[in-house]
Amino acid sequence: MPLSFVHASDFHLTAERGALQHGVDTGACLARAVPLLNALRPTVIVAGGDLASDGSEAAYRRLQALWGPLTAPIHFLLGNHDDAAAFRRVFRPGEAADAPLTGGVTLDGVRFLLLNSAVAGQEGGRIGEEALHWLEKDLAENATAPTWLFLHHQPLPIRQRWLDRIGLADSVPFLEVVSRHPQVAGVCYGHVHQSRRWRYGRSLFLGVPALAFQFAPVGQEAPIITPDAPAFRRVEIRPDGPRTWLHFLDGRVREEPSLEATPVYVR
Ligand SMILES: [Fe+2]
Ligand SMILES: [Fe+2]
Repeated sequence: MPLSFVHASDFHLTAERGALQHGVDTGACLARAVPLLNALRPTVIVAGGDLASDGSEAAYRRLQALWGPLTAPIHFLLGNHDDAAAFRRVFRPGEAADAPLTGGVTLDGVRFLLLNSAVAGQEGGRIGEEALHWLEKDLAENATAPTWLFLHHQPLPIRQRWLDRIGLADSVPFLEVVSRHPQVAGVCYGHVHQSRRWRYGRSLFLGVPALAFQFAPVGQEAPIITPDAPAFRRVEIRPDGPRTWLHFLDGRVREEPSLEATPVYVR
């Protein structure tokens, strides 16, 4: 089996079981995803932030219980709705409050880098100079390893004003780092609650739907909720390039175009 990963994001769990957000029971979404994910047997799962809507310790305990039966290793990012201290108390007890949330792992020669873009008390994101230096160094030291980057906030404006106002503040220096390192095969982000797909330089930039309620790609000043099914993205890393699919919780599976057939991002 080729190495594969799942990027699932924006679970928006709450402390209260059965609570609806925009008509969606987010706990039920996570529970429904478990057998699908186990059947797909990804090498690794990246959970892309906004794990909880309310940042409560109880929500993280629910996540821990709901996703306990998953067989693949999971790496967590945090989003603007998360609370780092509550997250650490549940998933990383004893960890220092200032321990980095940015880091990397190599699996079968492929590098996976998780970049924290959540800033306490803010909706918009920032990677920060220190983490950007770390990223530059890591990419320079692992120049031959195909690399996938993950962060919560969109690093390219998606041209929806209300979402771009709360995008990634330091996207320009981030994109400069990425463009210096051709081994970056893809950049995966959440936060936008909808699928986005562009080619930027040599990399795929992939916005993943939420595993919860979805935002319509229209609506410039405020969110419009769509009835689209929650979804996650699966990526297979093959010698001839990555193949990607969207898996919807209503059972649909949609294969996406190749890198060559993906529109180039134009500023
Ligand atoms: Fe979100
Ligand atoms: Fe978010």
